[in-house]
Amino acid sequence: MSIDKKYIDQFINVTSKAAIASYHLVGKKDKIAADQAAVDAMRTELNKIKMTGEIVIGEGSLDEAPMLFTGEILGLKKGPDFDIAVDPLEGTNFAANNLPGALSVIAISEKGNLFKAPETYMHKIATAKVEKGLIDLDYSTKKNIENLADFKNTDPSKLTACILDRPRHKKIIEDLTKLNVKIKLITDGDVAGALLVTKPIYNVDIYLGIGGGPEGVLAAAALDAYNCHFQGKFIFDNEKDIEEAKKMGITEFDKKYEINEIIKGDTIFCATAITDTMAMKGVVSENNNYYMTETLVTNKTSNDNHLSIEKRKMIFDNVKN
Ligand code: FBP
Repeated sequence: MSIDKKYIDQFINVTSKAAIASYHLVGKKDKIAADQAAVDAMRTELNKIKMTGEIVIGEGSLDEAPMLFTGEILGLKKGPDFDIAVDPLEGTNFAANNLPGALSVIAISEKGNLFKAPETYMHKIATAKVEKGLIDLDYSTKKNIENLADFKNTDPSKLTACILDRPRHKKIIEDLTKLNVKIKLITDGDVAGALLVTKPIYNVDIYLGIGGGPEGVLAAAALDAYNCHFQGKFIFDNEKDIEEAKKMGITEFDKKYEINEIIKGDTIFCATAITDTMAMKGVVSENNNYYMTETLVTNKTSNDNHLSIEKRKMIFDNVKN
């Protein structure tokens, strides 16, 4: 089965409208308001779509977040059943401080095909397509880097690794430095960070480290369409997260997930740039009544493994927020 292609433009519209809503708060030093604007716009647009869509990765549980909470049902409640993962504003600090890297992101699959995950951290590793067993979360950083260098017929010093700049990554960063690997430290935004492995133009050979679990699932949706390698391991290190995971049907708390266990079948992934990101221009506006957005779209149809990947521009007049 595959998702009707007519939905692609509808979901590009969703992230574009969320990006435009957030754009009005770019640089206003208020990441909560910028996030809320994106959430509200995304919810409004999702509710116009002919589908029954369940949020499986959202903005927390009902009591924490009034909108787009995990389990919320959206759409006109007719048409196909979808699972939806959202990050209406990925990179809240980027938006609040008017820095490159803010995105509005969504991933859609047919019902039951997207991993339901609580909001915990996740160990992640991503590369372009490699031989099975070559790169693994269970290997040391040294082994992964040496294997990747061999596979690419190059030297570790010619590889670039992208990682979030966090104290928890001290050891990995030290190991990479010892191996003379080029390091691309990012301050936030690990959906985009992971997606930098998808194309040589981004000059990143491997993404690794701990980031948000929801961001990991979203990135996996796009990485799958690009036929990339990704593994993720959720970190359940307290009772609350374990209880929530159990409620979502997770029974193994130390499991390493392969990409096809996180995302199955056909998917649509859209990431609209709020500020400049991944060679996309952020929202451009003229007198606030004309907007241009750029969206990275991936669509993987399940049956024939067909990939359709594109960057789409959308133009909107008189967007009401
Ligand atoms: P927000 O957009 O929610 O601020 O998340 C930004 C982000 O950098 C994610 O991309 C990443 O997965 C996560 O935060 C990392 O979390 P932490 O900042 O706690 O290390």
